Amino acid sequence: MKPSDKKAEGLQPIPVSQSFTTMTELVLPEHTNALDSIFGGVIMSWVDICAAIAAQRHSSLPVVTASIDALHFVAPVYKGWIVNLKASVNYVSRTSMEVGVRVDAENPIGKQTFHTASAYLTFVALGKDGKPTPIPPVKAETPEQIRRYKAAERRRQFRLELREREEGKP
Ligand SMILES: CC(C)(COP(=O)(O)OP(=O)(O)OC[C@H]1O[C@@H](n2cnc3c(N)ncnc32)[C@H](O)[C@@H]1OP(=O)(O)O)[C@@H](O)C(=O)NCCC(=O)NCCS
Repeated sequence: MKPSDKKAEGLQPIPVSQSFTTMTELVLPEHTNALDSIFGGVIMSWVDICAAIAAQRHSSLPVVTASIDALHFVAPVYKGWIVNLKASVNYVSRTSMEVGVRVDAENPIGKQTFHTASAYLTFVALGKDGKPTPIPPVKAETPEQIRRYKAAERRRQFRLELREREEGKP
């Protein structure tokens, strides 16, 4: 087993529900481009904040964003619409955790809701010395949480392999 595959030992598992975080934002003129649709970077910033809150709720420690997986914007969001974000911790390894975020946009006039984006972010918890520190494991309880846990475990493996390959480059 590689050191990075080790879990933190002796820490009490924390249910996924403890990290569950929701955020609601209104799309204002300063968030939009010439087409009156939102800048991708604004959504990315909200995704990062929502996910960081979930990571801190899980770990009760300061966290930093280590990486963000590919983020696909699947539908535009317009000025005056409402953006709802939901985040929770999917998986914990030793000092890092994957947080999943789902973004839905709501047109308040037509009362329609659109899936806008989904993202997976990795956060690392920092100790008093500013270095990565172990965090409690996550307890996936529902079938959906268990499905997300297993999928996140596979994504972590894929990320590790990718990093190893990139680090091996001349
Ligand atoms: C993230 C950071 C703390 C990792 O520090 P490090 O000294 O490389 O730490 P380690 O090699 O000991 O790895 C610690 C954990 O981070 C994970 N990690 C490191 N780099 C990562 C990356 N690019 N993506 C995902 N996870 C990463 C490791 O897998 C390990 O997880 P584990 O303990 O659960 O197995 C460090 O790179 C950092 O401070 N980055 C800047 C973070 C920041 O400022 N973010 C804001 C946006 S710029």
